[in-house]
Amino acid sequence: MKFEEIYALVGHVPYTAKDHGQYLYDLILQQEMTDILELGIAHGTATCYIAAALQELGRGCVTAVDLIDVDFQPTAEEQLKKVGLDKYAQVVRMKSGYTWFLHDEIARQTKDDKCQEVYDLCIIDGPKNWTIDGAAFFMADKLLRKDGWMIFDDYDWTYASVSRDGDTTDGISHRSLSEAEMKIPQVREVFQLLVKQHPHYGTLKVMNDSWGMAQKTMTAEKNYTIAFERTTRDLLARVATGIYRRLRS
Ligand SMILES: C[S@@+](CC[C@H](N)C(=O)[O-])C[C@H]1O[C@@H](n2cnc3c(N)ncnc32)[C@H](O)[C@@H]1O
Repeated sequence: MKFEEIYALVGHVPYTAKDHGQYLYDLILQQEMTDILELGIAHGTATCYIAAALQELGRGCVTAVDLIDVDFQPTAEEQLKKVGLDKYAQVVRMKSGYTWFLHDEIARQTKDDKCQEVYDLCIIDGPKNWTIDGAAFFMADKLLRKDGWMIFDDYDWTYASVSRDGDTTDGISHRSLSEAEMKIPQVREVFQLLVKQHPHYGTLKVMNDSWGMAQKTMTAEKNYTIAFERTTRDLLARVATGIYRRLRS
């Protein structure tokens, strides 16, 4: 399915802005990525863009992981069925979260004490939390093929940006956090302190302060770029997403 066609079907559903959806779609086609892991899916809008690219390629599967106990209407399963792309996606719902899915996947892929690398792309778009997403990075790295990409969404998100008294975000009570943990963007810390320093990752990009991307080049050389390509549409989409998230929390 072409990008404009899938965008017309799901583009009105949060949380993936059009330019991010198009970027993902193009990346998958250009690099012929067939095995994709999406951690944190909400309504499955990005999942639909990914599945559309896989259909265009004619093969592949996106494994999309989220919690059992969430209420996103429409659900990812409903959206995938509605657009007729459910055969390119497997939605996995976990009780405690995606780090336990990663445990199960590493266990499944381990033979003779070696974990097989089975994904071309891993998107980490869940709680935006140092502990959970920092651990998820190390676990997902074991499953990512050489030259595969790891993408982190919400690079500059902070708990403080959504905080009201007594707030909880994705099971983390804001009261349990220090001032630094409230104010510092935790995905940025994962990217700068764990991913950028990791010996497997040689090409690193930060895009519009909203995505951190890293390629598993397995080379010692580091190529780090920061790009700002903010369009009015991108800014409006980010403001709308922020308002939507506040209303949901
Ligand atoms: C921003 S939304 C994902 C948006 C989606 N990738 C998109 O672009 O349309 C974050 C999602 O992460 C999920 N989530 C948060 N913590 C999680 C965890 N520990 N394990 C699995 N999913 C989690 C939430 O339920 C929510 O659906």
